[in-house]
Amino acid sequence: MSRLEISNLRVLFPTDDGLVKATNDVDLGIEEGENLGLIGESGSGKTVLGMAILRLLPKDARVEGVVRFNGRDLLSLREEEMRRVRGREIVMILQNPTSALNPVLTVGSQIEEVLRLHKGVDKRSARKRVVELLKMVRIRDASKRVRDYPHQFSGGMKERAMIAMALASDPTLIIADEPTKGLDVTVKREILKLLKEVTERKSMLFITHDLASAAEICERIAVMYAGEILEVAKTEDLLDDPLHPYTEGFLNSLPSRGLKPIRGIGPSLIDLPHGCKFHPRCDHATEVCMREHPPMLQIEDGRQVRCFLHA
Ligand SMILES: Nc1ncnc2c1ncn2[C@@H]1O[C@H](COP(=O)(O)OP(=O)(O)OP(=O)(O)O)[C@@H](O)[C@H]1O
Ligand SMILES: [Mg+2]
Repeated sequence: MSRLEISNLRVLFPTDDGLVKATNDVDLGIEEGENLGLIGESGSGKTVLGMAILRLLPKDARVEGVVRFNGRDLLSLREEEMRRVRGREIVMILQNPTSALNPVLTVGSQIEEVLRLHKGVDKRSARKRVVELLKMVRIRDASKRVRDYPHQFSGGMKERAMIAMALASDPTLIIADEPTKGLDVTVKREILKLLKEVTERKSMLFITHDLASAAEICERIAVMYAGEILEVAKTEDLLDDPLHPYTEGFLNSLPSRGLKPIRGIGPSLIDLPHGCKFHPRCDHATEVCMREHPPMLQIEDGRQVRCFLHA
């Protein structure tokens, strides 16, 4: 059974310049225990999608569609029920641990708070559990460091603390949004390794624009462009044989594959191109691509691609 099943998810933001179509008709599933990578360039709608799942978008956002989690539609839950889901069943690890951690409280007391709030653990067992959690995320001298303030932690340690905090409520789904952004290469690798390990029996939506990171810890990868999912495939298939011209272009733009950028720039989300949203930048575009919006095609092996080339 799928842990998470997103159908026809659309997020619109009314602005003075017009309606920003941040995500369009997103269909995406995450299986139990699966790590799904969500990649795409800056502004493609990755964070909006993550926030929409947890209903953390600003109030003026118009959200349509269905987000089914363990059978329930999250978008129709009462706020009070949603708060329970948010704390206990789905947690988000954010891009910037420095702003997510409260600077005036010790790291330990912040994790303790999660345990008491969501797990109903009493103070003494909470203390013990916090140290266990810090050990689990490989913070050395955990029983001492538990009394440190966030500023006493390095960037990598703060990220580990964030992961410990996410694990405190023992969620079934973790949404990690660029968790390794700004960390140096060695620390990044360690954090990725840790994330892979701690999500062994959990599901994770791993949001990043770094394909290499996603490839390291995700079984499948979804590629997002201008608010749409253009391709979903098993990680090896996506790397070895990308089906969508955008995915291919994205791969070719990586340093390891020649640094050849995709020509042109991404579209305005207020004034999206007709037909395929990628067609103005696509070397394979034909007349139909300008005229019609390509549906998501189901290819064998569970692969999906939104491109007329494969029709
Ligand atoms: N509250 C808002 N009002 C209007 N537009 C918004 C709002 N929040 C996000 N957007 C727009 O939605 C689009 C998608 O943003 P999002 O933050 O999801 O991109 P992203 O893929 O996460 O990018 P990055 O890789 O830089 O984090 C952007 O064009 C952004 O400007
Ligand atoms: Mg983002």
